[in-house]
Amino acid sequence: MSVPQNPAPERQLIDRFGRVHNNLRISVTDRCNARCFYCMPADNVPFMPRDELLSFEEIERVVRIGTTLGIDRVRLTGGEPLVRRELHRLVERLVRVPGIVDIGLTTNGVLLGEQAQQLKDAGLKRLNISLDALDPVIFQRVTRRDSYDKVIEGIAAARAAGFSPIKLNAVSVKGLTEDQILPFAELARETDTEVRFIEFMPLDADNQWGRDKVLFAHEIIPILQAEFGPLEPVPSANPNAPANDFRFADGKGKIGMIASVSQPFCSTCNRFRVTAEGRLRNCLFSLEETDIRGLLRNGEADAEIADAMVSCITAKTEGHQINSVQFVQPDRPMSSIGG
Ligand code: 5AD
Ligand code: SF4
Repeated sequence: MSVPQNPAPERQLIDRFGRVHNNLRISVTDRCNARCFYCMPADNVPFMPRDELLSFEEIERVVRIGTTLGIDRVRLTGGEPLVRRELHRLVERLVRVPGIVDIGLTTNGVLLGEQAQQLKDAGLKRLNISLDALDPVIFQRVTRRDSYDKVIEGIAAARAAGFSPIKLNAVSVKGLTEDQILPFAELARETDTEVRFIEFMPLDADNQWGRDKVLFAHEIIPILQAEFGPLEPVPSANPNAPANDFRFADGKGKIGMIASVSQPFCSTCNRFRVTAEGRLRNCLFSLEETDIRGLLRNGEADAEIADAMVSCITAKTEGHQINSVQFVQPDRPMSSIGG
């Protein structure tokens, strides 16, 4: 099944490898109310001043211009997007942009208790909640915060607001999250929850990443099978989805594997990103960025900004080099890129 595209874009964001980009991930803030070690430093985080962030008007304009190039889905990320004030107002604006068919949000869930209903009412369609452990002690080790109960409350609020299924993203770290695998699987089997295990990627602030710290998908699958029996691959409805989905042979529950390190999905990548301060990045691991905030604030025409998007995609490399000795970790951590 093909992903629906904007019916008549003037041009498309096709890179040198034939990948068509229709998916824009927008970071709305670099701030966060957690400090996950794989994404941020523990303290002394240098946050951007407020006026450096793109305003909601500016974000809406970027999205509108994007739709003329075939962008039809967006996902709001951070930092933690829900710490940006009145985020549901941005959702309301983006829902009304002609050509946008899908709006998603990736959140750590801490503020969902207060905001889930507002977001649903604003027209948010998909919600991914990052939760790496179902044990509060491990949760605190990962996030360096004590907000486990708030997240559980937030998940309940999301369910009550009608988000379905609830999707949980669990970053998998060797020596830390092994014991969480079975509890997550049980949750997926007993409730309307899809759990996706994500291999830990080199985007941490402290340069602590190493292959020995990645809990690989091929290590998680046997642990699940030993407990619950065979896992069967589920063909994906969306060829660009990074997750390989599986269902348990007894029909209970669905699990996804985002094997970003061991099985890169770059060849089907359809995404690019705009950071909170308005820089385009054609890959999570890009070492170069295109400043479009400057263009927006200099009064450039839409066509200039569209050209900048096209150039950014044209410069995209074939894929990340995590598995090569030449790999260079970007000098900004995940929190300031936007997941
Ligand atoms: N490796 C893997 N996943 C990460 N995320 C953030 N940093 C990393 C990393 N270094 C995940 C978050 C969230 C999504 C945006 O990306 O947990 O679910
Ligand atoms: Fe796309 Fe870069 Fe992620 Fe590969 S690493 S899937 S190219 S964003």
